[in-house]
Amino acid sequence: MKTSPKSAGKTVITAALPYANGPLHIGFLLEAIQADIYARALRSMQKDALYICASDMHGTPIEINAKKAGLEPETFVEKYWKEHQQDAASFLISFDNFHKTHSKENKELSEYFFTELKKKKYIYIKKMDVIYCPKCERTLPDRYIRGTCPLCGTADQYGDVCEGCGSVLKGTDLLNPKCSLCGTTPHIKASPHYFFKLSAFAGKLKKWINSKQADLQPEVKNWLKEWLDKGLEDWCISRDAPYFGFEIPDSKKECGEVKYFYVWLDAPIGYISSTRNYCEKQSGKQGKQKTCRWEDYWKKGSAHHFIGKDISYFHFLFWPAMLMAMDIPLPKLTVHGFITVNGQKMSKSRGTFFTAKEFHKLYGAEALRFYYASHLQRKVVDVDLNFDEFAAVVNNVLVGKLGNFCYRSLTFAEKNYGELPALKPTENKALTKKVLFLSEKIKKNYLAQDYHGAVKNILLIADLGNAYFQKAEPWKSKDDPKTKAAVSWCVSLARNLAVLISPVLPEFSKKVFSALGEKNLVFTDINFKWKGKVSAVQLLVNKVEIVRKESFPLQLTVGKILEVKDHPNADSLYLLKVDLGNLGKRQVVAGLKKHFRKEDLTGRKAVFVANMKSAKLRGEMSEAMVLAADDVAHVGILEVEKLNPGDEVHFEGTENSHAEITFDEFIKINMTVQAGRVFYAGKKLISALEEVKVHGVNDGAKVR
Ligand code: 2FM
Ligand code: ZN
Repeated sequence: MKTSPKSAGKTVITAALPYANGPLHIGFLLEAIQADIYARALRSMQKDALYICASDMHGTPIEINAKKAGLEPETFVEKYWKEHQQDAASFLISFDNFHKTHSKENKELSEYFFTELKKKKYIYIKKMDVIYCPKCERTLPDRYIRGTCPLCGTADQYGDVCEGCGSVLKGTDLLNPKCSLCGTTPHIKASPHYFFKLSAFAGKLKKWINSKQADLQPEVKNWLKEWLDKGLEDWCISRDAPYFGFEIPDSKKECGEVKYFYVWLDAPIGYISSTRNYCEKQSGKQGKQKTCRWEDYWKKGSAHHFIGKDISYFHFLFWPAMLMAMDIPLPKLTVHGFITVNGQKMSKSRGTFFTAKEFHKLYGAEALRFYYASHLQRKVVDVDLNFDEFAAVVNNVLVGKLGNFCYRSLTFAEKNYGELPALKPTENKALTKKVLFLSEKIKKNYLAQDYHGAVKNILLIADLGNAYFQKAEPWKSKDDPKTKAAVSWCVSLARNLAVLISPVLPEFSKKVFSALGEKNLVFTDINFKWKGKVSAVQLLVNKVEIVRKESFPLQLTVGKILEVKDHPNADSLYLLKVDLGNLGKRQVVAGLKKHFRKEDLTGRKAVFVANMKSAKLRGEMSEAMVLAADDVAHVGILEVEKLNPGDEVHFEGTENSHAEITFDEFIKINMTVQAGRVFYAGKKLISALEEVKVHGVNDGAKVR
């Protein structure tokens, strides 16, 4: 790779572009923080490092969810684009730019990639079988088809993977397939599509993965070897209408109908277009010469992607092959594992899902940054957010060791001396040497993305400091020049520690710097020569108290009403067939007949009590209970838009219990409606994604 002296060393760092399809969560933050620490460490080494991200705005789920929310996709994604930036900023993620894939830059660059690849004969058109729902009038992606797994016979599986046997499927594999949107049996039709000749790159990819330059993590290397040994299939890069994405130039002419770029074609190009958008904004700034070009980063510098293991195939095969074809140097990549919460998969129904906002409100940014940093190495292992450990790490280690040393040294100096002279070079020589040695190690830790190691070494230094301060007992002989020198050394050490931890805890460091009248110190500022005035230091870090959720006796679960029939033995009752997602399908006896017609209920989502003891009601089994609000005159169903069958809703600060409950116990629980929302003991019924709504009933309506 050729590099010009000016652009060499320019690095663009990226976090995978989050879909503009829901709020950011603590899983995304693991990656954003991992990449942020790297970007901040490089900047502290005075490297030209850009941290780039964007919203990933295209694809079928976004198009469908926008429709469900009654919004144009453009409006829908814009809302999340804004929200994501606020959430990222609240966790001190230092993006230099957060652009969007639905942008003019990305459209231009995607078309440019496409036409170049076509010119080079890496793109061709071929007819393929797609699954078409005649009722929805759309081609269905695998995720939107449900049916029986042909390998193990498990019913009601998504078309991309069977939860019964774990097999990866194609929608066309499923037996007895149904459209997941409307339940209609879809049919197969042939449709022309664009393909990228991935197979042509097998040799070059093999060479790359074995090269030193690729520097792959061992697990990743093994997966890639497996994939390459299996053989690479060409990649379909187009999708049928309706689709939220960019129209493929000339597709109408070439295929007889308009085709769109598949979201995974333009998403990684979004990394480049966000860089380009950044450069254009820089160049447009007053007084700046036009010196920033995306090519300086991507062609002459280097890119470094941070990604989760689930999107490896795209980033190690499709994307590098496209870059090779475009003569753009290949990126470096760091793959991380998933986040688990108290040892469990993050899931909305288990209550282990935290949005960035929720988490920030409970514990703030730096507690999570420190916890993640102390667990992160450049390894593909899952990181468990265990709340007991989280509290211990934050309270005993961050606050108890690092925070304690810096705070007590600075406060002691401020209270007793104010002004401090420079230390003699001979002062505390052995310890100084040790600290400087560890500092060098820490820089290397950051460069190797071994933040666990960096934190460990920083804590070693903090321990040295605490022990030294304790032994010096400065409170006993404040006026002794030796004591003053010892405190001065501690202040310098606190200053150095703040520099060393700044990639992880930027606010903590800022507070230390500001007490010393300094700004934005970097790694080369580490020394023991500091002199000056110490001002009052703000509280550096707060202890956390884990908020344990109160247990609520009902398992409130979203269900979709699939079918409504008359109860054979009761005039006022219906028999509902309800899809409760991972809890399966259940029959529910419901007293809704006086208030709703069958067609008003069929296909609707509602909130069910899933842990109700099954009972025979007038000779028919009822295996759950539908909740409704009742003000005597009107009855309203509890409504959710964004949640899916099986997702749980809960009252704020509570956790659903899954233990079986009887009707007598249920009837004692007092839930009521105020202003279209449901409350229990003053707490609102919500989920991570939305508040539960009720229409058409008066305040005070009882929910049962
Ligand atoms: O998996 C995802 O969340 C994708 N939105 C990541 C895209 S990363 C890149 F390729 F744009
Ligand atoms: Zn359909």
